[in-house]
Amino acid sequence: MANMYYEKDCDLGKLDGKKIAIIGYGSQGHAHALNLKESGCDVCVGLRSGSKNWAAAEEAGLQVKTVAEAAKWGDVVMMLINDEVQAKVYKEDVAPNLESGNALMFAHGFNIHFKQIVPPADVDVLMIAPKGPGHTVRSLYVGGKGVPCLLAVEQNATGKAVDIGLAYAAGIGGARGGVMETTFQDETETDLFGEQAVLCGGVIELMKLGFETLVEAGYAPENAYFECIHEMKLIIDLINKGGIAMCNYSISDTAEYGEYVSGTRVLPYEQTKANMRAVLKDIQDGVFAGKWIAENQTGRTFLNAKRAQMARHPMEVVGAELRKNMLWGDDADPDTAST
Ligand SMILES: NC(=O)c1ccc[n+]([C@@H]2O[C@H](COP(=O)([O-])OP(=O)(O)OC[C@H]3O[C@@H](n4cnc5c(N)ncnc54)[C@H](OP(=O)(O)O)[C@@H]3O)[C@@H](O)[C@H]2O)c1
Repeated sequence: MANMYYEKDCDLGKLDGKKIAIIGYGSQGHAHALNLKESGCDVCVGLRSGSKNWAAAEEAGLQVKTVAEAAKWGDVVMMLINDEVQAKVYKEDVAPNLESGNALMFAHGFNIHFKQIVPPADVDVLMIAPKGPGHTVRSLYVGGKGVPCLLAVEQNATGKAVDIGLAYAAGIGGARGGVMETTFQDETETDLFGEQAVLCGGVIELMKLGFETLVEAGYAPENAYFECIHEMKLIIDLINKGGIAMCNYSISDTAEYGEYVSGTRVLPYEQTKANMRAVLKDIQDGVFAGKWIAENQTGRTFLNAKRAQMARHPMEVVGAELRKNMLWGDDADPDTAST
């Protein structure tokens, strides 16, 4: 069994007197900065000069500095900018400002595991990785809950890295959901696998193919959207709360029978497992990391083309129209997407 920690195991007081620099104010950055501030921590946000998020962070009541100034100010420096730019920003603005005994933190292990960032030996290097989108880290915290987190320690120069990590997890609300101890390697490999095979790659492809199958058979796109896309969250909410059992309890017996009869027709067991193992192997061997690093060095042409293609897909077009007309359709704030 993995080591699990909850709020009772975390002492937020371990952050007393420590200055926490949150580098970046995107999905995770805004959530960590605001949650920690509301938990009573001393926080500042580090942004590049001219950042479009500078004013938003200040308006939210946070102090903002340049990345270099924030890294110098902080005893704890949390890297919450895009993984693909972290190595450059670390080298130019963070590394020169780290002091012995500081804690350098990450929310994902990519740059440490694949050695894009190699910190000095006299700082703690640890990770608190929320297992959910940043906007949900914010919305669940505000609602009194929290997104479970993974804790990993790569370097424990001060001997206090676990205490700092657990206190940080409590501060962002993660300990309300549970903190699992792991390693940078395991977090990196499972995180990349989960998002590629199941959460993003798998689920979005499944919804898209379901939508297309119904529309190509002559059914209304609105019907296909409700059936294959909108309802996904409603089903997942039940699984999230009470496992597959609560989902199967709530759906009809007809739906449950269909689940067993057709699930493996859509995802043939042996073939799908073989494909998933191949995806995992590419992650473990560094093949995926190499491709992603190269994509960023060559203008992101594949990513940009796919993003544009997805925006034009009928499921996105009809979905936008339907959501706009829902009673809550004028709420475009991702921070309230889970409530
Ligand atoms: N997204 C998630 O839900 C999620 C979940 C778990 C873990 N993580 C991890 O959390 C970390 C942050 O991910 P994220 O998705 O929150 O990132 P994100 O939203 O893409 O981060 C954007 C932030 O990074 C800043 N930034 C980008 N390039 C920069 C540069 N060259 N110099 C300085 N700042 C720069 C942006 O600055 P501007 O404000 O100037 O644009 C912005 O504030 C990553 O390690 C990721 O793997 C993310």
